Amino acid sequence: MEERQTTQAHGPSCRPYLTLEALAERAATCKRCILSNNRTQVVFGEGASDADVMFIGEGPGEVEDQTGRPFVGPAGKKLDEILESVKIARASVYITNMVKCQPPGNRAPTKVEMEACWDWLAAQIALVRPKMIVALGNTPAQRLLGVTEGITQLRGRLHRWTGGIEIFPMFHPSYLLRHQSKEKGSPKYLTWLDIQAVAERISYLRSRMPQS
Ligand code: URA
Repeated sequence: MEERQTTQAHGPSCRPYLTLEALAERAATCKRCILSNNRTQVVFGEGASDADVMFIGEGPGEVEDQTGRPFVGPAGKKLDEILESVKIARASVYITNMVKCQPPGNRAPTKVEMEACWDWLAAQIALVRPKMIVALGNTPAQRLLGVTEGITQLRGRLHRWTGGIEIFPMFHPSYLLRHQSKEKGSPKYLTWLDIQAVAERISYLRSRMPQS
């Protein structure tokens, strides 16, 4: 798998929260940006607290806003299919978003909103300590890597990040819902390759972990 070094340090800072639960409790009343005005609830994130891999999307949609869970609407169903295709159990990974409240009309979050939400995400990363982050779509890939290249250029490669974490950008599942072709070179086809690369990398990283 091709690897690339990023020079910018956009990594997580250490936060004084001991558990994800305590962090989620604090985040639930967050008013740091205008997205808090119209949310039903904060969609903090879910999954294994010690996951090797963290999936980061853009921001909650309508179903997520209603349920309080990330990736459970149409894009979530697509993400589930992608994970199932390589037998990655959803419960074995950690899933969250760049912003924890639904942007109006499901627009992309603004820079200001992402900055306001950054401490929550940085603290999640610091607590879960994933070896790999899968950035779903332009918004997380560009913000985390500090680049302006699009997802078509960024996807399918490992990018080294702060703290030895690897970032692997992939197309956002919503994008795949709008581009149904499975032809060679299509977003769906490339995603199928990408998720296999993720699964292989996870196996490799796990094989290097000390056995308890
Ligand atoms: N649902 C999420 O939780 N995140 C997205 O980016 C899209 C849908």
